[in-house]
Amino acid sequence: MDDRQISRRAAMLGAAATMAWLSSPARALLAAAATPGLSAKVEALFAQMTVEEKAGQLTLNAAAWAGGAAVTLNPAGSAATFDSQLAEVRAGRLTGVFNGNGAAMARQMQTVAMREARLKIPLIFAADVIHGFRTVFPMPIAEAGSFDADLAMRTARAAAVEAAAAGIDWTFAPMVDIGRDQRWGRVVEGSGEDVFLGCLMAAARVRGFQGSRGLAADDAVMACAKHFAAYGAAEAGLDYNTVDVSERTLREVYFPPFEAAFDAGALSAMASFNEISGVPATANPWLLDTVLRKEWKFGGLVVSDYTGDEELIAHGFAADARDATRLAFMAGVDMSMQSSFYIKHLPDLVAKGEVPMARLDQAVRRVLAVKQALGLFDDPFRRIDPRREKTRVRTPANLKLAREAGRRSIVLLKNDGDLLPLPRSSKRIALIGPFASGQQDLIGPWNVYGTDAEAVDLATGVRAAIADPSLVTTVAGSAVEAPIAGGIDAAVAAANAADIVVLAIGESQRMSGEAQSRTAIVVPAPQQALAEAVAATGKPMVVVLRHGRALALEGAVLDAPAILATWFLGSQAGPAIADILFGIEGPSARLSVSFPYASGQEPYHYDHKSTGRPSPAGKPVEYKARYREVPNAARFAFGHGLTYGKIGYSGLSLAPSMAWDGALTAKATITNTGRTAAVEVAQLYIRDVTASITRPVRQLKGFKRVPLAPGASAEIAFTLKRSDLEFVGLDLSRTIEPGRFELWIASSAQDDGVTGSFTLAAA
Ligand code: BGC
Repeated sequence: MDDRQISRRAAMLGAAATMAWLSSPARALLAAAATPGLSAKVEALFAQMTVEEKAGQLTLNAAAWAGGAAVTLNPAGSAATFDSQLAEVRAGRLTGVFNGNGAAMARQMQTVAMREARLKIPLIFAADVIHGFRTVFPMPIAEAGSFDADLAMRTARAAAVEAAAAGIDWTFAPMVDIGRDQRWGRVVEGSGEDVFLGCLMAAARVRGFQGSRGLAADDAVMACAKHFAAYGAAEAGLDYNTVDVSERTLREVYFPPFEAAFDAGALSAMASFNEISGVPATANPWLLDTVLRKEWKFGGLVVSDYTGDEELIAHGFAADARDATRLAFMAGVDMSMQSSFYIKHLPDLVAKGEVPMARLDQAVRRVLAVKQALGLFDDPFRRIDPRREKTRVRTPANLKLAREAGRRSIVLLKNDGDLLPLPRSSKRIALIGPFASGQQDLIGPWNVYGTDAEAVDLATGVRAAIADPSLVTTVAGSAVEAPIAGGIDAAVAAANAADIVVLAIGESQRMSGEAQSRTAIVVPAPQQALAEAVAATGKPMVVVLRHGRALALEGAVLDAPAILATWFLGSQAGPAIADILFGIEGPSARLSVSFPYASGQEPYHYDHKSTGRPSPAGKPVEYKARYREVPNAARFAFGHGLTYGKIGYSGLSLAPSMAWDGALTAKATITNTGRTAAVEVAQLYIRDVTASITRPVRQLKGFKRVPLAPGASAEIAFTLKRSDLEFVGLDLSRTIEPGRFELWIASSAQDDGVTGSFTLAAA
């Protein structure tokens, strides 16, 4: 297909979108009903805007101040300087900037907007506040493992208070993409593989960011649900890659966390980079208009991702910049991030009648409406206060919260012979590995404002936790992806001289996050060699993993008696890990992503379908859905995580049937027969045994965090309603069918716990 044909096809699609939009009877009604109304003052400004000033309201660029923080996290952007950006503000050609630098910058820019621009429309300041601001909290994939939406809400709130104190109005978070393929580096930014957990976390973070006092509060930031949609379904886990996914899977897996975020009040959404079955999300009228606006009645603002509109050309969907502008804008992207395409091309497209003025006005109204909701028309400087910026960031309370969130994100994968917790006195500890000491790789990817220098490392955390810090020796042994000359010998010597080895290995923070896909999700070879050599000393060894995704563990790492999954935990990573290592608090987190046996199983998710030839557990059977090398299961499944107690499930009580209009309560007893207190995350799973659309082998429907003293038992109860048994039916609408359901109350997606079944009776 040559360029001309692409252009013609794209033009036809664009024209069709324009026509469909113009002729939609619901358009006017929806636009009026869903978008918050403008005050008389803002209406008066709107009435005076030129087409260019309108396009300016739709143009958002990376801040150029001090070279721009964004350049390290994104491909180099335009050649803007701070002065050229101020000139754009003066001319009314810029709506705001993102990933800028603090209240001083914001004050300078806002002052120009309010004093020197013709209409004095306040700027909006955006930023990627994904897992904290200056106080850095655990990566979302880790924090989701707390199975505690309230914790996610509290860390988002703290991040919002800090960010808003530094002049930020709008965060590009929460990232709510379901992550079913651990090769994809961006799984680290989301809440894992499960839809139910993902929805709870999405809603909690929105509430945390936006606060409970209204968006105009000086400590509220507007949330942005991203990346809409199905970004995580990239073929082969390759970031930015093609997505080809059924509408059913979109509606059942990828859409629900967005719906949860919007239900919780998120007032903006970001279109994703990927195409979906041939149509890029950034120019997808079905996604951005039919579903988002018409079906979900979303009244907020849609922003492109970074140069997402420009990328329509490389996708082979738009012929050139002008074409890309029209296609993205007419599909429903209200604001363009970083390409400057809208300010360059919208005025001419409107003049030539290729973009209706009504669509331009609609997008501008949405932008003005969110600026109004943020209180910016009443006080453009409400979040810009250099004094508050100093007093509200990295407060003792926030650092305490970072430590709490860190502890509660650590998953104990294995603890043979109760090696953990370690004693706090009299043992010599060899702390070995590239993550044993040093402040690098603690805060994790996608943090714009936290610094390594402000993060506390593992060695410091360990030394502070024990009676005699001189008993700790640290040796790197290996770099992250390359050997160190003599490193293994030094590590083996240190291990031999110690009573216990703590081996801190895994991925650097640059190995996950955006554009960091991997083909083999393993511990890098030089570190694996280090682990083999250290394990050969025969010393008791605790593996402390650092990582941004689930890993396929092998050899001495997998065989170690104790393994902790510690992700990237942020500012207080070291103390948080030490708290768990020494039993100052017991581990209570669970895996938000399944650890497979081997990389080749990806995409692996516990809620897969049965197939017609399911592989029985245990011995491999020919002609069943299995791999030659490994079981068709997870090595450590979603939901898995041990405690320092000994937890057992017993005594399921479950009525045999649920009436069509009734409810059903499943109860079980959980007992801690161990000698240590524990918090058990009891999980409720169901399986719809036979349905008109095949159903997953298990689906999470509830969980409870249950504190249990040594020797204590607790009865827990889950109540299911008919709506919990819904799925996306043949006609793509929500469907419930009577029939038999299996049920588990268990400690992971692969644990049998207690199990039974019930029938949903017909109406
Ligand atoms: C990422 C977004 C981010 C944006 C702005 C993009 O590359 O995909 O998640 O919000 O950059 O930094």
